[in-house]
Amino acid sequence: MAGKNTGTTSAVSVGAVYAGTFDALTNGHRDVIERAARIFSPLVVAVAESSTKGVLFKSAERKELIEGAIQGIPGDIRVEIFEGLLVDYCHKVGLRTVIRGLRAVSDYEYEAQMAMINRDLAEDIETVFLMTSRRSSFISSSVVRDIAKWKGDLSKLVPPNVAEKLRGVFGSRPA
Ligand code: COA
Repeated sequence: MAGKNTGTTSAVSVGAVYAGTFDALTNGHRDVIERAARIFSPLVVAVAESSTKGVLFKSAERKELIEGAIQGIPGDIRVEIFEGLLVDYCHKVGLRTVIRGLRAVSDYEYEAQMAMINRDLAEDIETVFLMTSRRSSFISSSVVRDIAKWKGDLSKLVPPNVAEKLRGVFGSRPA
Protein backbone atom coordinates (compact mmCIF):
# COMPACT_ATOMS: atom_id res chain seq x y z
CA MET A 1 0.00 0.00 0.00
CA ALA A 2 1.68 3.19 -1.19
CA GLY A 3 2.06 6.04 1.29
CA LYS A 4 0.99 3.91 4.28
CA ASN A 5 1.25 5.84 7.51
CA THR A 6 4.73 5.89 8.90
CA GLY A 7 4.19 8.51 11.58
CA THR A 8 1.50 10.32 13.42
CA THR A 9 -1.33 11.93 11.55
CA SER A 10 -4.10 14.19 12.69
CA ALA A 11 -6.59 12.69 10.22
CA VAL A 12 -9.93 11.77 11.70
CA SER A 13 -11.17 8.30 10.85
CA VAL A 14 -13.50 9.42 8.09
CA GLY A 15 -12.41 8.17 4.73
CA ALA A 16 -12.69 9.87 1.36
CA VAL A 17 -12.25 9.22 -2.32
CA TYR A 18 -10.17 11.58 -4.46
CA ALA A 19 -11.16 10.69 -8.00
CA GLY A 20 -9.77 11.85 -11.29
CA THR A 21 -8.25 10.88 -14.59
CA PHE A 22 -4.75 11.86 -13.45
CA ASP A 23 -3.31 11.80 -16.99
CA ALA A 24 -0.73 12.51 -15.71
CA LEU A 25 -0.53 13.31 -12.02
CA THR A 26 0.73 16.86 -11.46
CA ASN A 27 2.20 18.60 -8.42
CA GLY A 28 -1.27 20.12 -8.01
CA HIS A 29 -2.90 16.70 -7.68
CA ARG A 30 -0.14 15.61 -5.31
CA ASP A 31 -0.73 18.70 -3.20
CA VAL A 32 -4.44 17.84 -2.91
CA ILE A 33 -3.56 14.25 -1.92
CA GLU A 34 -1.19 15.51 0.77
CA ARG A 35 -3.77 17.92 2.18
CA ALA A 36 -6.62 15.43 2.01
CA ALA A 37 -4.60 12.71 3.75
CA ARG A 38 -4.15 15.05 6.73
CA ILE A 39 -7.91 15.18 7.14
CA PHE A 40 -9.31 11.91 5.79
CA SER A 41 -8.33 8.36 6.58
CA PRO A 42 -8.28 6.22 4.55
CA LEU A 43 -7.86 8.29 1.44
CA VAL A 44 -8.53 6.35 -1.74
CA VAL A 45 -7.09 7.93 -4.87
CA ALA A 46 -9.46 6.59 -7.52
CA VAL A 47 -8.13 6.54 -11.07
CA ALA A 48 -10.87 6.56 -13.71
CA GLU A 49 -10.34 3.58 -16.02
CA SER A 50 -12.10 5.13 -18.94
CA SER A 51 -12.54 8.79 -19.53
CA THR A 52 -14.45 10.93 -21.96
CA LYS A 53 -11.06 12.47 -22.65
CA GLY A 54 -8.52 10.69 -24.81
CA VAL A 55 -5.75 9.58 -22.48
CA LEU A 56 -2.01 9.34 -22.91
CA PHE A 57 -1.39 6.72 -20.22
CA LYS A 58 -3.24 3.48 -19.49
CA SER A 59 -5.00 3.38 -16.13
CA ALA A 60 -2.41 0.93 -14.71
CA GLU A 61 0.38 3.34 -15.69
CA ARG A 62 -1.45 6.31 -14.16
CA LYS A 63 -1.94 4.30 -10.95
CA GLU A 64 1.74 3.35 -10.85
CA LEU A 65 2.81 6.96 -11.38
CA ILE A 66 0.60 8.11 -8.49
CA GLU A 67 1.94 5.39 -6.22
CA GLY A 68 5.49 6.43 -7.03
CA ALA A 69 4.75 10.12 -6.52
CA ILE A 70 3.04 9.80 -3.14
CA GLN A 71 5.76 7.74 -1.48
CA GLY A 72 6.56 9.45 1.80
CA ILE A 73 3.27 11.29 2.21
CA PRO A 74 2.03 10.34 5.69
CA GLY A 75 -1.44 8.89 5.97
CA ASP A 76 -3.44 5.83 5.01
CA ILE A 77 -3.50 6.33 1.26
CA ARG A 78 -4.23 3.76 -1.40
CA VAL A 79 -4.56 4.05 -5.15
CA GLU A 80 -7.21 2.10 -7.04
CA ILE A 81 -8.64 2.01 -10.53
CA PHE A 82 -12.40 2.38 -10.90
CA GLU A 83 -14.86 2.02 -13.72
CA GLY A 84 -18.45 3.21 -13.94
CA LEU A 85 -20.14 5.85 -11.85
CA LEU A 86 -18.10 7.44 -9.10
CA VAL A 87 -21.00 7.24 -6.64
CA ASP A 88 -21.30 3.47 -7.25
CA TYR A 89 -17.59 3.14 -6.58
CA CYS A 90 -17.95 5.14 -3.33
CA HIS A 91 -20.73 2.79 -2.20
CA LYS A 92 -18.60 -0.22 -3.14
CA VAL A 93 -15.69 0.93 -0.97
CA GLY A 94 -18.01 2.23 1.77
CA LEU A 95 -16.85 5.87 1.62
CA ARG A 96 -19.23 8.79 1.38
CA THR A 97 -16.95 11.75 0.79
CA VAL A 98 -15.58 12.77 -2.58
CA ILE A 99 -12.64 15.16 -2.66
CA ARG A 100 -12.07 17.55 -5.51
CA GLY A 101 -9.38 20.18 -5.84
CA LEU A 102 -10.27 23.73 -6.80
CA ARG A 103 -7.59 25.77 -8.52
CA ALA A 104 -9.40 28.88 -9.65
CA VAL A 105 -12.86 30.33 -10.19
CA SER A 106 -12.75 28.77 -13.66
CA ASP A 107 -12.94 25.28 -12.09
CA TYR A 108 -16.14 26.16 -10.24
CA GLU A 109 -18.74 25.56 -12.94
CA TYR A 110 -17.44 22.14 -13.96
CA GLU A 111 -16.95 21.08 -10.35
CA ALA A 112 -20.36 22.36 -9.24
CA GLN A 113 -22.02 20.47 -12.09
CA MET A 114 -20.22 17.26 -11.16
CA ALA A 115 -21.03 17.65 -7.45
CA MET A 116 -24.69 18.28 -8.17
CA ILE A 117 -24.97 15.36 -10.57
CA ASN A 118 -23.34 13.10 -8.00
CA ARG A 119 -25.74 14.38 -5.33
CA ASP A 120 -28.69 13.70 -7.61
CA LEU A 121 -27.39 10.20 -8.22
CA ALA A 122 -26.68 9.48 -4.56
CA GLU A 123 -27.79 11.81 -1.77
CA ASP A 124 -25.53 10.18 0.77
CA ILE A 125 -22.34 11.19 -1.07
CA GLU A 126 -20.90 14.61 -0.20
CA THR A 127 -18.30 16.47 -2.24
CA VAL A 128 -15.64 18.39 -0.35
CA PHE A 129 -13.47 20.92 -2.15
CA LEU A 130 -9.89 21.68 -1.20
CA MET A 131 -8.12 24.75 -2.53
CA THR A 132 -4.85 23.89 -4.18
CA SER A 133 -1.71 25.73 -3.17
CA ARG A 134 -1.05 28.97 -5.01
CA ARG A 135 2.04 27.58 -6.73
CA SER A 136 0.07 24.74 -8.33
CA SER A 137 -3.05 26.69 -9.19
CA PHE A 138 -2.07 27.13 -12.86
CA ILE A 139 -1.02 23.52 -13.55
CA SER A 140 -3.17 21.10 -15.51
CA SER A 141 -2.49 17.69 -17.00
CA SER A 142 -3.04 18.89 -20.56
CA VAL A 143 -0.59 21.78 -20.09
CA VAL A 144 1.92 19.29 -18.71
CA ARG A 145 1.42 16.93 -21.67
CA ASP A 146 1.87 19.83 -24.08
CA ILE A 147 5.10 21.00 -22.44
CA ALA A 148 6.36 17.39 -22.44
CA LYS A 149 5.56 17.09 -26.14
CA TRP A 150 7.78 20.09 -26.85
CA LYS A 151 10.43 18.76 -24.45
CA GLY A 152 10.06 21.69 -22.05
CA ASP A 153 11.11 21.78 -18.42
CA LEU A 154 8.67 19.80 -16.25
CA SER A 155 10.61 19.93 -13.01
CA LYS A 156 8.35 22.47 -11.29
CA LEU A 157 5.10 20.99 -12.59
CA VAL A 158 5.14 17.26 -11.87
CA PRO A 159 6.82 14.85 -9.44
CA PRO A 160 10.21 13.49 -10.66
CA ASN A 161 8.88 10.01 -11.55
CA VAL A 162 6.14 11.56 -13.72
CA ALA A 163 8.67 13.82 -15.47
CA GLU A 164 10.84 10.78 -16.18
CA LYS A 165 7.90 8.84 -17.61
CA LEU A 166 6.92 11.76 -19.85
CA ARG A 167 10.51 12.12 -21.05
CA GLY A 168 10.40 8.40 -21.88
CA VAL A 169 7.39 9.04 -24.13
CA PHE A 170 8.36 12.35 -25.72
CA GLY A 171 12.13 12.43 -25.28
CA SER A 172 14.21 15.18 -23.71
CA ARG A 173 16.15 18.13 -25.05
CA PRO A 174 19.79 17.49 -25.81
CA ALA A 175 21.96 19.06 -23.08
N1 COA B 1 -3.90 20.27 -9.81
C1 COA B 1 -3.65 20.17 -11.11
N2 COA B 1 -4.57 19.92 -12.03
C2 COA B 1 -5.81 19.76 -11.58
C3 COA B 1 -6.15 19.86 -10.25
C4 COA B 1 -5.13 20.12 -9.35
N3 COA B 1 -5.37 20.23 -8.05
N4 COA B 1 -7.46 19.67 -10.13
C5 COA B 1 -7.92 19.46 -11.36
N5 COA B 1 -6.91 19.53 -12.22
C6 COA B 1 -7.00 19.45 -13.69
C7 COA B 1 -6.39 18.21 -14.25
O1 COA B 1 -5.03 18.42 -14.49
C8 COA B 1 -7.19 18.04 -15.50
O2 COA B 1 -6.67 18.89 -16.49
P1 COA B 1 -6.87 18.64 -18.04
O3 COA B 1 -8.34 18.78 -18.31
O4 COA B 1 -6.05 19.71 -18.62
O5 COA B 1 -6.35 17.27 -18.38
C9 COA B 1 -8.55 18.56 -15.09
O6 COA B 1 -8.33 19.45 -14.04
C10 COA B 1 -9.45 17.53 -14.52
O7 COA B 1 -8.74 16.34 -14.29
P2 COA B 1 -8.82 15.41 -13.02
O8 COA B 1 -8.61 16.15 -11.76
O9 COA B 1 -7.90 14.28 -13.30
O10 COA B 1 -10.30 14.99 -12.96
P3 COA B 1 -11.31 14.69 -14.09
O11 COA B 1 -12.17 15.88 -14.22
O12 COA B 1 -10.63 14.19 -15.31
O13 COA B 1 -12.07 13.50 -13.39
C11 COA B 1 -13.91 12.08 -12.93
C12 COA B 1 -13.39 13.35 -13.59
C13 COA B 1 -13.17 10.86 -13.40
C14 COA B 1 -13.80 12.20 -11.41
C15 COA B 1 -15.39 12.08 -13.35
O14 COA B 1 -15.47 12.16 -14.76
C16 COA B 1 -16.11 10.86 -12.90
O15 COA B 1 -16.51 10.77 -11.77
N6 COA B 1 -16.26 9.88 -13.80
C17 COA B 1 -16.96 8.65 -13.52
C18 COA B 1 -18.31 8.63 -14.21
C19 COA B 1 -19.33 9.40 -13.39
O16 COA B 1 -19.58 9.11 -12.24
N7 COA B 1 -19.95 10.40 -14.04
C20 COA B 1 -20.97 11.20 -13.40
C21 COA B 1 -20.38 12.32 -12.55
S1 COA B 1 -19.80 13.66 -13.56
